[in-house]
Amino acid sequence: MQSNLRLLTLLINLGLVHAHMAAWHRGMYCLNGTTPGVDNENASEAVRPVYQLPKSEWWSTSFSCALPSCDEFPPAPGDFIELPAGGSFTVEIAGNRGQTSLSYGGKYIANDLADDYSESPNCITSPNYHTQNKTTAAGTVFAISYQASECDIKQVTAENLVVFTVKYHTPWNRLTSYNVPAALPACPDDGCHCVWGWVPNHCGQPNMYMHPYKCKVIGATSS
Ligand SMILES: *[C@@H]1O[C@H](CO)[C@@H](O)[C@H](O)[C@H]1NC(C)=O
Ligand SMILES: *[C@@H]1O[C@H](CO)[C@@H](O)[C@H](O)[C@H]1NC(C)=O
Ligand SMILES: *[C@@H]1O[C@H](CO)[C@@H](O)[C@H](O)[C@H]1NC(C)=O
Repeated sequence: MQSNLRLLTLLINLGLVHAHMAAWHRGMYCLNGTTPGVDNENASEAVRPVYQLPKSEWWSTSFSCALPSCDEFPPAPGDFIELPAGGSFTVEIAGNRGQTSLSYGGKYIANDLADDYSESPNCITSPNYHTQNKTTAAGTVFAISYQASECDIKQVTAENLVVFTVKYHTPWNRLTSYNVPAALPACPDDGCHCVWGWVPNHCGQPNMYMHPYKCKVIGATSS
């Protein structure tokens, strides 16, 4: 386990592990990276996969980021993914923050590679989509937990997280929208926690990804 972590760290440092993906949004944990007080416009902590780590390492202590603890770097106060009941919300799926509209004034926004790759017979590896084409892309989900009032991400558990939206044939484009059920209940005043999840469908190396966000339901009519 320790040696796996060391190997992972080594590979990251060598730049051999790259082109993983995450859903970027101001409401995410680790938006600015994991150096206190530093806003890293090219942060990539969020894309670290959690495959083959023991659950204790990626859930209870660091929630989703393998290294280091993302739970200590919540979004700025007031930054949430807003979930309009009966509507949709949009995130940016990319390999690091530098490739999104959140950094460098959008100068390095990743191209949507869909067209370039649609004919590929092999697994697309850069960016690492883990799929041959859009049709076979595994799909990604968002789940929500209502337990996380008091802003305490440690109250989020597998038991109180509920998947509320699935987007088939993703990851694919950078801008990706997810539908919100009309009946999604309102969150406590200080919001809910959401989680983005992706388990690629065995194209290339097996992997799994998970990342936390603060979120809140807008215009909820049920409770
Ligand atoms: C961001 O980091 C990636 C490597 O993770 C690098 O390829 C890219 O050039 C960096 N972008 C900027 C704008 O520094
Ligand atoms: C991240 O950096 C942005 C831009 O500098 C800043 O507005 C925001 O408050 C920072 N977020 C956190 C959680 O520090
Ligand atoms: C997508 O990839 C799969 C697996 O290689 C293949 O069977 C399928 O024909 C491809 N679909 C398209 C639209 O290229």
